[in-house]
Amino acid sequence: MKKLGILVSGQGSNMTAILNACEQGYLQAEVEVVISSNPDAKALTKAKERKIDAISFNETTNKNPEVLDTSICEVLYEHKVDLVLLAGFMKKIGPKVLSIFEGSILNIHPSLLPKYGGQGLYGINVHRAVIGAGEKKSGATIHLVNSDYDKGTILAQKSVIVDADDTPESLAAKVLEVEHVLYVETVKKIIEGNIIL
Ligand code: GRF
Repeated sequence: MKKLGILVSGQGSNMTAILNACEQGYLQAEVEVVISSNPDAKALTKAKERKIDAISFNETTNKNPEVLDTSICEVLYEHKVDLVLLAGFMKKIGPKVLSIFEGSILNIHPSLLPKYGGQGLYGINVHRAVIGAGEKKSGATIHLVNSDYDKGTILAQKSVIVDADDTPESLAAKVLEVEHVLYVETVKKIIEGNIIL
């Protein structure tokens, strides 16, 4: 069984997709810990309801990138996590976490990277930019995490059609639906050795 650590900041629908796949035995993995950068994240409540060890840090920790980096690193290390999954995590992964876990940290991004990635391009901003540019296609990307926002090796992508009447919100919903499938399938391939990190 692979030990997973999931980092969240928001509603946690990708986290839920991973948790469901583990519970159903589709993924030979167990979520050891959920870490939230936001104490009010819905994801945190959802994880606690499922009796997953769920941790959030206080404001003092969150405000200091070095302290946050050390705190995240300690939690992942204590839980002996094999694979770190960022699922809507809004903070930058620091050098300490990277020094131990780089190569085993995945992120999901709601565009077809390298397009529409980088600082400031998160959440609805991504879909506004895609529609604003008149793209006919968008999608989701799973990539390895390094010290540059959204720049790590791309592991998997899944596309969706952008319809003429799509709004940023409708496109976001469409992409989120494929994200859940893509995240679970990519983690499965990693666990089964069909993607080598
Ligand atoms: C997703 O769109 C993901 O691509 C991005 O943040 C969002 C998280 O959504 N990184 P959720 O919290 O998993 O529902």
